Amino acid sequence: MSLRVRRAVPPLESFREEVLRGLGRPRKELPCKYFYDATGSALFDQICELPEYYLTRVELGILRNHAAEMAELLGRRCLLIEYGSGSGVKTRLLLDRLVDATAYLPIDISPGPLLASARALAVAYPGLEILPVCADYTGEYPLPRPRTKPARRAVFFPGSTIGNFTPREAERFLKHVGQVCGRGGALLVGVDVAKGSQILERAYDDSQGVTARFNLNLLDRINRELGADFDLASFRHRAVYERTLGRVEMHLVSKRAQQVRVAGCHFSFRGGEAILTECSYKWDLAEFEQLAHGAGWRVR
Ligand code: AVI
Repeated sequence: MSLRVRRAVPPLESFREEVLRGLGRPRKELPCKYFYDATGSALFDQICELPEYYLTRVELGILRNHAAEMAELLGRRCLLIEYGSGSGVKTRLLLDRLVDATAYLPIDISPGPLLASARALAVAYPGLEILPVCADYTGEYPLPRPRTKPARRAVFFPGSTIGNFTPREAERFLKHVGQVCGRGGALLVGVDVAKGSQILERAYDDSQGVTARFNLNLLDRINRELGADFDLASFRHRAVYERTLGRVEMHLVSKRAQQVRVAGCHFSFRGGEAILTECSYKWDLAEFEQLAHGAGWRVR
């Protein structure tokens, strides 16, 4: 069995530029999409198994209980496009219920996990055309055409990954998905809702320190790929729920005053100064529905 992976991976220059731009801001920040190198993707898989990280478990439960209904809403002969496809566990729950899906098109920024899950799905669903694309799904890239014309394009975007966008980015993203799907297209999206700050902060700062390693791996990746000299032991992970902003923020906090060199540029840190590495928005469903309406979607 041969699988052709289309690649539209952002070049190293965009990684370098985005890192330098983010660290140069008065309030330092780094884009969370760069968490997912091979190590980061493996750590994320571990996060999904953690007792404190309820998101995956709860969403899997919802899918197990309601995949049939979801598949019915998506209809027969759909082309299933998945953004940030990961391990493919959730995909299987949906594929098991979809009737006559024409093809499955997973898009992921990490080539290793993308290929591994595409291969496993090709074995499990031998009749299904699989068209993996290695790309940053928020960017522009051409989509391969399936052999069979689908009745509709349906995007599957689970995991509350939409929560990693600001509300404005989320609206722009929903409009972009609308263009990708075309008229009559569908989007099945997982959205996490707000809850108590203790539950949220534990979910993003677990007792085994896996999320801390996931966060710190970003600095390690910058060291490896951009020739930087971050001393990982001089930074600590922090997660806070900012209720007024409706989001959990992850930070890397400098334990002392220090200088770091990244791609030939120098950055100074004060003791206690933080880099914002991720925002995870927790939506109110009525507000999310309003956002979706504004972006041209009808909610079912
Ligand atoms: C991928 N994304 C939805 C996760 C989240 O919950 O925001 C990433 C993550 N960050 C820390 N733990 C998990």
